[in-house]
Amino acid sequence: MSINISKQNKQQLLEKLKAIKGYLKGAEKTQETAELLSFVDEIERELKSKKYGLVFEEHREEIEELLERSTPVLKEDPALSIDHGGIVNALIEGDNLASLTALKTEYFGKVDVIYIDPPYNKGKGDFGYQDKYVGDEDAFRHSKWSSFMLKRLELAKELLCDDGVIFISIDDNEIASLRLLCDRVFGEKNRLSVHHIQVRYGNKSLNEKKDFQEVCEYVLIYAKNARLFHANKPAEEYSLDKFCYEIKETGEYTEEVIGGRNVKIFKKGAYEIVKRPIGCLGFLKATWASGSVVKGNASGKYFETYLKPRKEIDGLGTLYKVDGIGEDGLGYRYFTGPNKAEATQGLFYSGVPLARVREMAEGGSKKYRPIGNFYDFAADFGNIRHEGGVAFNSGKKPTKMLKQFIGYHPKKDALVLDFFAGSASTGHAVLDLNDEDGGNRRFIMCTSAEQNICREVAYVRLKNVIEKTKKTSLKFYTVEFEEGTK
Ligand SMILES: C[S@@+](CC[C@H](N)C(=O)[O-])C[C@H]1O[C@@H](n2cnc3c(N)ncnc32)[C@H](O)[C@@H]1O
Repeated sequence: MSINISKQNKQQLLEKLKAIKGYLKGAEKTQETAELLSFVDEIERELKSKKYGLVFEEHREEIEELLERSTPVLKEDPALSIDHGGIVNALIEGDNLASLTALKTEYFGKVDVIYIDPPYNKGKGDFGYQDKYVGDEDAFRHSKWSSFMLKRLELAKELLCDDGVIFISIDDNEIASLRLLCDRVFGEKNRLSVHHIQVRYGNKSLNEKKDFQEVCEYVLIYAKNARLFHANKPAEEYSLDKFCYEIKETGEYTEEVIGGRNVKIFKKGAYEIVKRPIGCLGFLKATWASGSVVKGNASGKYFETYLKPRKEIDGLGTLYKVDGIGEDGLGYRYFTGPNKAEATQGLFYSGVPLARVREMAEGGSKKYRPIGNFYDFAADFGNIRHEGGVAFNSGKKPTKMLKQFIGYHPKKDALVLDFFAGSASTGHAVLDLNDEDGGNRRFIMCTSAEQNICREVAYVRLKNVIEKTKKTSLKFYTVEFEEGTK
């Protein structure tokens, strides 16, 4: 039973139950009153239980039972190792619940980046449970998937370091459950983004029977601790293009103290604003004092509070030169009030901030943009078949997309883990990214022995990539079980 109820309503119902309980306790002790009392207890428990979150049935897996009586250990297969010196990466074959448990001994709190691409639970044989594929007619299909994922996400969290980050690919089938699961495991406050990834073109649908077509998948991004993870953001050179205004004081002014600041007031005609064709240091940038600027910016706030109401006093098109505002070293800031009777907004004119001037003098100043949450990888998904030189039809992901995610982590020597590795696209992406930016990242790929994917697809792919540059090494491990638990 599950009840949606307000806190106040809940309190009132609990009071009523208390009264019924009191009455039943005082009544004659019969089997009937005993039964009624136990019903009341049950309702009380239900009312008091936490209501928000994902409710699902827990499903035991055979691997859990095996893990309860034995210890998983990683056994290297030297015949499959590739040794070119340099960084040593790992490929692990086995159920990932066992691989993750085994990795805990050495890698607890040491993994910087996790990318996973779990089965999407499409009901078409992509998700197996107890060696049987979960079909779309299975009433417990969502419970089985959530239960399977919860255990693995909890282990993943233990492996992440304090400034670590996890990326999880998913589609419409389980996005809702996964988001609630991740909010529970990593905490809602650590959710950084839900990326929307275009994976196919809308006009490519050949299935006319479908009313709706999914062109997007999602990538949930959580930090182990959002305060400690600082993503690499897209950057561009700080531009002076907009610093192209010059203000000339050409006539008389009056002086007044407004909002505690000394202000020179130039009526329309007593000043001139010249726009230069090219922006440069020494000129000014115009910013509208409107929207979020009036709340988060000192000049915006000053305009909103003190100058906006002055339209009636000073007239339209007035220029204000306000002392003591700005971080551009000028010592004053110009503002203009509205030019039309029906207008209310004004502009302020700022010079290049002194901190930027210093950075430019030291060799360059960067302006950072936030990371967006929509990316079009439709072309890359369309051309994925030959990537890595292996055929794999179960959700291969483009290395271009994976490089982007891995690159969000500022560490160029990050340890990257993928425990639903499939064809090991993530390992491939790590090696390519290192080649591109001179990084020293290393990877651990884990994938099941199912259909010999680990040896015939993941291993072959990683070997293809490694042999091209012969700069890095790979160790191949299987998960073995030792009697007893440690
Ligand atoms: C969607 S695919 C990942 C594809 C991968 N991102 C790529 O680009 O090739 C999911 C993979 O996880 C593997 N897998 C599913 N359950 C697993 C488990 N319990 N332990 C280890 N691997 C598992 C499947 O065999 C499959 O290869």
